[in-house]
Amino acid sequence: MNEIINLIKSHKSIRKFKDKKVEEEKLKLVIEAAQCASTSSFVQAYTIIRVKDMETRREIAKLSGDQPYIEQSPLFLVFCADLNRLNLACRMNDTQMKEGFTESFILATVDTAIAAQNSMIAAESMGLGGVYIGGIRNDPYRVCELLNIPKNVYPVFGMCLGYPNQDPDTKPRLPLDVVYKEDKYSINEDESRIIEYDRLASEYYIKRTKGKRNDTWSKQMADKMEQELRPHMRDFLKDKGFDMR
Ligand SMILES: Cc1cc2nc3c(=O)[nH]c(=O)nc-3n(C[C@H](O)[C@H](O)[C@H](O)COP(=O)(O)O)c2cc1C
Repeated sequence: MNEIINLIKSHKSIRKFKDKKVEEEKLKLVIEAAQCASTSSFVQAYTIIRVKDMETRREIAKLSGDQPYIEQSPLFLVFCADLNRLNLACRMNDTQMKEGFTESFILATVDTAIAAQNSMIAAESMGLGGVYIGGIRNDPYRVCELLNIPKNVYPVFGMCLGYPNQDPDTKPRLPLDVVYKEDKYSINEDESRIIEYDRLASEYYIKRTKGKRNDTWSKQMADKMEQELRPHMRDFLKDKGFDMR
């Protein structure tokens, strides 16, 4: 196995950090790595905001569902899908951007996520660890206020980074055959595979929590998916110019 595959396969979210600053040079490399990611039609439709202000971090930690590592991590980045700059490019060329297309929303969101994952891998390759923070979408309006995020831009997720002060086991993923198909989509044989995977996930949780949590993947998903998932997101995106037409 080469070093990059080994690094990718050893990924684990880190939520406890050493009290040690991340060097500015490393931060720069993390951002540059994001910029090297593939980008739909070269649009580079994202902006990364480093949140340094501790008061702001505290508020984001709270609105994200009390996630203390947002405040405690040496670095907290917010990855935003950004069509505002493309609007500027249009104005610079005496034309007008056609706003509100679902396709533009997909393009900016996908670009942001791909760039972010490059950042995560770059960070991990330099001995850092981190965790994505979707919790910021609990109150995206407030996040926009706090970070001065304009129309045609929306915060997709945050990312805490720093030197790990924990070493959790890697979380077992779904069996490959469940997520990988050839020629045609099918789900026919997946139930038995998922039952087997549930057993594995349950062992993982029992080990990780010293018997306190006995959970399975399918149960977790069932609990999550029977709920309304951040139903404010539709109106929020519309308000931000991501109209979905
Ligand atoms: C877009 C995204 C948002 C996430 N949001 C959160 C979050 O708000 N809080 C958190 O603790 N973990 C969050 N996570 C981390 C996932 O829970 C984690 O990646 C997943 O359980 C797999 O665990 P692993 O990363 O350790 O392999 C998020 C991950 C992604 C990709």
